[in-house]
Amino acid sequence: MKPVLLSFHNNGPLGLGGLEDRFNIIRLWKEQDPESVIQQHKNDVVAINCALSHQIGKKLIEALPNLEIIATYSVGFDHIDLETTQKRGIKLTNTPDVLCQETADTGMALLLATARRIVEGDMFVRTGKWYNGKLPLGITLAHKTIGIVGLGGVGSKIAKRCEAFEMEVVYYGPNKKDVPYQYYSNITPMAQDCDMMILTCPGGEATANLVDINVLEALGPKGILVNIARGSVVDQPALVGALQNGVIGAAGLDVFADEPHVPEELISMDNVVLLPHIGSATLETRTKMGQLVIDNILAHFDGKELLTEVVRQK
Ligand code: DGY
Repeated sequence: MKPVLLSFHNNGPLGLGGLEDRFNIIRLWKEQDPESVIQQHKNDVVAINCALSHQIGKKLIEALPNLEIIATYSVGFDHIDLETTQKRGIKLTNTPDVLCQETADTGMALLLATARRIVEGDMFVRTGKWYNGKLPLGITLAHKTIGIVGLGGVGSKIAKRCEAFEMEVVYYGPNKKDVPYQYYSNITPMAQDCDMMILTCPGGEATANLVDINVLEALGPKGILVNIARGSVVDQPALVGALQNGVIGAAGLDVFADEPHVPEELISMDNVVLLPHIGSATLETRTKMGQLVIDNILAHFDGKELLTEVVRQK
C-alpha cells in the first residue's frame, strides 16, 4: 500500500501528478467531511502539502503519528506550528528564491500604483470623471528614500529595482548586512527618514504589529506604506485610522490581518490600492513553486538532501 500524502490544495498549475506514482493522495479540498477523512487515514499520512491559507496547527500535527514532512507552497511558514513540528522532528520545506523576483515585482507594482494613482486613474477614466476634471497629482519616486523592512530574498530584489528607479535605499532588519545601503537597527527612526516604506519581512511573533501607530506617525502625512509581507506585521486598525486621518498619505496592500476579509474602511478609500495576496501569482512562478514542493517531498522519501529545508534555530 502506498503511503498517504495529505494535500490541502492542487499545487498550482503543475498539479500533483508528479507524486501520483508514489503516494495515495488525499485531496482534502474535495472532501465533503475533511475531518473524518483525516481521522480515517491518520496513521498512514506521512506527508502534508499545504499553502499559506491552510493553518497547520498542533492539533492536526499531533493527530498524525507518522507524519515526516510538511511542504508548503509559499516562502512564509507562519501558518505552521513550528514548535510542534520541531518537537516531533518533522521536516519542513518552503519555496524561497523561486518567488523572490515575482514578489518584488508585486511590491514595485503597488508602490507605483499608489504613488502615481494608477488604480484611481483607471476608475477616473472608466467612470467618465475625466470629462469634468483632473486626477490629483501623484508623487515622484526618483530621488525619494525608500525604507525596506526585511532585506532578505524579496527585499534585496526590491532594493535593486528601487535603485533602477533612482531611489535612495535604506533598510531595517534584525541584522546589518554587507550591502551599500544605510542600515537602521530601529524601525521608527528609519520611518522618520523615509518617504516610502515597503514591508517584506517574515510574519510570526517576532514581527507582529511591528508597524504600529508610532511608526506610521514617523512615516508622516506624505508617506506611502506598501505591505507584501504579512498582515500581522502591521497594526491594521492603527493603519486604517492613520489613512483616514492623514497620518500617512497612502498604502498599497497585498496582505491583510484576516484574509480574505478586508476592512470596509480600506475598500472605500481612494488613497489605498488593494490586492488579494498575489505576491508570487504568475503562471511561471507558481509552476516553479509546485515543482519545488514535489522535488522536496520526493527527495525526502528517496533519502536525499532536501532542496529548501526551513532550518530552525534551536
Ligand atoms: C509567500 O509565499 O509566503 C508570500 O506571501 C508570497 O506572496
